[in-house]
Amino acid sequence: MSSIPKSSPAPGSDDGAFAARAALVERLARVVPRPEIEIALPQLERIAALKAAHGAVIVAHNYQIPLITAGIADFVGDSLTMARYAARSPAPVIVVCGVHFMAESVKLLCPQKTVLLPDFGAGCSLAASVSPEDIRGLRQRHPDSPVVAYVNTSAAVKAEADICCTSANAVAVARSLGRPHLIMVPDRHLADYVARMTGLEVTTSGGQCEVHVKYAGTDIEAYRRQTGAVVLAHPECPRDVQERADFVGSTGAMDDYIETRRPRRVLLLTECSMADNVMLRHPRIEFLKPCNLCGFMKAINLDNVERVLTRPGATIEIDPAIAARARRPIERMLAL
Ligand code: 13P
Ligand code: SF4
Repeated sequence: MSSIPKSSPAPGSDDGAFAARAALVERLARVVPRPEIEIALPQLERIAALKAAHGAVIVAHNYQIPLITAGIADFVGDSLTMARYAARSPAPVIVVCGVHFMAESVKLLCPQKTVLLPDFGAGCSLAASVSPEDIRGLRQRHPDSPVVAYVNTSAAVKAEADICCTSANAVAVARSLGRPHLIMVPDRHLADYVARMTGLEVTTSGGQCEVHVKYAGTDIEAYRRQTGAVVLAHPECPRDVQERADFVGSTGAMDDYIETRRPRRVLLLTECSMADNVMLRHPRIEFLKPCNLCGFMKAINLDNVERVLTRPGATIEIDPAIAARARRPIERMLAL
């Protein structure tokens, strides 16, 4: 599973503080310029103190910057593992360093907790591409077909679905339904991947991730020829990229691949911070760095994390009627 171990203990005033601070700086220095780390250190300490004061934990997605993932997060992973970690944690306050649908997933799995998102503008082009009305329209056209909602959807869309999936389990979820045709929203490339892997007919609402569609199969050929790198692609990438990649999988699956196979040189076709975060744990692996940034993910930064812990402001809330319906497809997926 994609996760970076808990961040090094925050530097404080105890005996181990100096060593902890030095270890954190050395680790971060693999991917962050030292002056940037030195400037950030006092803020990392303030955030650690605020977390302790509020009994908060920070869950961060693999696409967050290393100063967040290694500097302040208690858990780093994909959207589903973030929500599962939050639900298992005894902490009453969860700060989500990720995008809005991820914070909603956390709230759905732990409704009694206070869920904070440092910037409510942190959206997702996929989640924004489909509405509950779209699902109802698709159901009318295909009344016998189950609806699979990718986790990259709003709670209101999940409430209309039969089951959820992540990019890690989409193929298994599709097979589990035992039907020849299914509706899978919203990502057309993930749906195409599932159709090819299962031989099932898959109808989609046709959304796409604005980050992963920027990759093209032709780019891969040039890189592979010149570098011999192993190419790992996210299933949100277009088909010509997937077909040329050595491995297609979620951020968690890419992480597992690197952990177990330890390739010498890797090209990760996903959001930029993923490579930095994996590199923190695998300093001997060379990561090639062409990448595309997700502006939504990058809306989260140390300043707004500190702000949300200082003045919590708006919390993530979901209409209880929608939450009850949205929880069902998530639980069905988790039960598989
Ligand atoms: P993962 O579930 O693979 O972490 O992906 C989430 C996401 O937003 C990909 O763009
Ligand atoms: Fe959404 Fe794509 Fe950003 Fe992931 S990378 S949060 S799918 S826009």
